[in-house]
Amino acid sequence: MTEVQQDDGLAFPWWKRGVIYQVYPRSFQDSNGDGTGDLRGITSRLDYVSWLGVSAIWISPFYPSPMADFGYDVSDYCAVDPLFGTLADFDALLTEAHARDIRVIVDFVPNHTSDQHPWFLESRASKSNPKRDWYFWRDAKPDGTLPNNWLAHFGGPMWTLDEATGQYYLHSFLPQQPDLNWRNPEVKAAMLDALRFWLDKGVDGFRFDVAHNIMKDPNLADNPPAGNTAQWHRFAGDFSTQLHINDKNHPDIHVIYKEIRKLIDSYSTPGHERFMIGETHVYDGPTWAALFGDHLDEMHMPGNFGLLKTPWNATAIRSHVEMIEQAVPEGGWPNYVISNHDDPRTATRVGAKQAKVAMMLLLTLRGTPTIYNGEELGMENVAIPADRERDPWGLRVPGLGLGRDPQRTPMQWDTSPNAGFTTPAATPWLPLADDWETRNVAVEKDDAKSILNLTEELLVLRGTHPALAHGDWEAIGGLPEECLVYTRSTAEQRLLVALNLTDTEHQFMLPYTGTGLVITSTGKDRTGKISLTFMVLQPNEGILIDITGAKLA
Ligand code: GLC
Repeated sequence: MTEVQQDDGLAFPWWKRGVIYQVYPRSFQDSNGDGTGDLRGITSRLDYVSWLGVSAIWISPFYPSPMADFGYDVSDYCAVDPLFGTLADFDALLTEAHARDIRVIVDFVPNHTSDQHPWFLESRASKSNPKRDWYFWRDAKPDGTLPNNWLAHFGGPMWTLDEATGQYYLHSFLPQQPDLNWRNPEVKAAMLDALRFWLDKGVDGFRFDVAHNIMKDPNLADNPPAGNTAQWHRFAGDFSTQLHINDKNHPDIHVIYKEIRKLIDSYSTPGHERFMIGETHVYDGPTWAALFGDHLDEMHMPGNFGLLKTPWNATAIRSHVEMIEQAVPEGGWPNYVISNHDDPRTATRVGAKQAKVAMMLLLTLRGTPTIYNGEELGMENVAIPADRERDPWGLRVPGLGLGRDPQRTPMQWDTSPNAGFTTPAATPWLPLADDWETRNVAVEKDDAKSILNLTEELLVLRGTHPALAHGDWEAIGGLPEECLVYTRSTAEQRLLVALNLTDTEHQFMLPYTGTGLVITSTGKDRTGKISLTFMVLQPNEGILIDITGAKLA
């Protein structure tokens, strides 16, 4: 790893310097009392986002949509669903965000539309419709079976029969989400136009939903069985019984992303760099790294979801981070995700007592972290009564804990009715967590030891400490399995991060002499000098220490 010494805007544009904050619009802030969050609600909370200190918000889809998959089924790429507001509301949000130096990343859904999108309505109208080839239409095999064996993420086969024309159409997710055929030049042109629409408005970037899905094997060859090979980042029922090598990430994907990147770059100007991050559930280092492009001419950052499936111990986390550090191409930039609207809350996955340690890990690794709204409060998954379950995945594939409602419950802002998320009389679209009266922004802001204040502090520290912002990352070996210790260093500064990943105290020797200076700790109960020879970590403790100038023992 070469050490980066230059710290100018070009080497470190905003998307490398800062932190992305994911806003799930349904659950962030409701402004009109219908129980569902909206764009005006987000705008009204920008002062909070600004206080927190993130540099960008990524807003999950707010396009017109029948909401079969809560907005990831888009029926118009260039408009706003009335549930969320209007295009004018979006323009106002963008202006207000930019006024606070907050970038706005729009969620772009390239792989599939809604089955109610006019393109699909035309495509399904007849076999000879000019848009027929915009989607994947196939006859049954001669023996009457499905065109191939592909299985959908959300249960069942990827093929649904259209009775009227007698052919099957392909959908990687719900039947209400037919896949677009990116090999058709008209589809590509239409989608690039949709990107231009948002770029012309001045958005700063895109999060490409299931970005690697858009290119499939041109012959739609069957997927082989998975055997014991781990699939994806968690078990997803039948879907996990196949190796998904033909239904996504065909090498031709690189041609498309180079073209998309060119478009995005054509809008970039110094000081207003535009950006693309992919939702790329690709867990093999080299295949993942290839999505940066062989000349860093594809995604600025292929999303890295590896920590979601990494066991919570030092060996596993260390080897994941080392794998990423090794895989990232020269000039490329790592990124980490520990939760999002699709995955369990961190406090639930690793244990509530570890939530601060997890936040310290996320915010002290090299690369751009994404924080999912509510994680900064330590929110946990919420048990959803059966009659309030909404997520189609959980409803279609029950019994495996795949439903995503528990991590999508409303933000907890204060102690007023409905936690300040919506008006007192409204019923929030998903129930609030039971702990909302004690776990909310207002209460946690007043508690110096809260995870909220720790998050805010770490974000400030990333801005003031070059070693955290862009220094090299290196793990310290030979320590107890329960403790992860690493350094972040530039030529001038060296910091040490020591994390206890368990609920018991641990003591160990460090390879240094002398003392370092505590910058902060998860318990906010450490100050001043600390031994760099012998370390005692309290249960669930993380410490950030300045060890600049420390000598190796
Ligand atoms: C992505 C989104 C998820 C959605 C799926 C289908 O994985 O993050 O929420 O259901 O794509 O669009």
